[in-house]
Amino acid sequence: MDFFLDTAEVDVIKDLSETGLIDGITTNPSLVAKSGQDFITVLEKIATIVDGPISAEVTAVDTEGMINEGLRLSKIAKNIVVKLPLTLDGLKACVALTNKKISTNVTLCFSSNQALIAAKAGATYISPFIGRLDDIGESGLDLIQDIKSIYSNYNKLNTKILVASVRSLDHVAKSAIIGADTVTLPPKVFMEMYEHELTKKGLDAFLKDWAETKQSIL
Ligand code: E4P
Repeated sequence: MDFFLDTAEVDVIKDLSETGLIDGITTNPSLVAKSGQDFITVLEKIATIVDGPISAEVTAVDTEGMINEGLRLSKIAKNIVVKLPLTLDGLKACVALTNKKISTNVTLCFSSNQALIAAKAGATYISPFIGRLDDIGESGLDLIQDIKSIYSNYNKLNTKILVASVRSLDHVAKSAIIGADTVTLPPKVFMEMYEHELTKKGLDAFLKDWAETKQSIL
């Protein structure tokens, strides 16, 4: 499973990329606004840090505008993925950009049919927003399972499932059990992934016992 970071904070991306565990980045207009930085500058900076896919979202709402913005964004770096909303205009822009061999991430997906039609449009990634579905009393993980089943039925559908709007460790583990290709993690969730109380306790005990042997490996 690929791990993307869901943030536009360059310092955080730099810091966490040093782990060697980050495969890509997703941004959206809200995350860019939160960063307080210029969008294009942020993308240029991220591209100097991360080799993997970097999702950059268009803000036009018409097909032509989305295509033009997508072409502009894709010129920033070879690993930019143009993020398009799941609207009819977005799908048409997805077809056009896919025909130009530009990678796309179709975002704001909340249903299996939306995932199916985005795959039909040639999307490189589909981003189902599971946390936002949970927020309205539906199951985001059920949607991931459904999309996985649908895509598995058709060899021609090569769209990757990019689990988005992740809120918890359970979202990550269950998405991996289902077999989602990628998960985009808020930095806080990424930092929680390696922790377990028994790991810490166990290590403390090993180190205490080792100290009593008075040995050294090197
Ligand atoms: C990423 O591609 C999405 O834009 C993001 O995960 C949405 O997360 P949110 O629902 O927490 O805003």
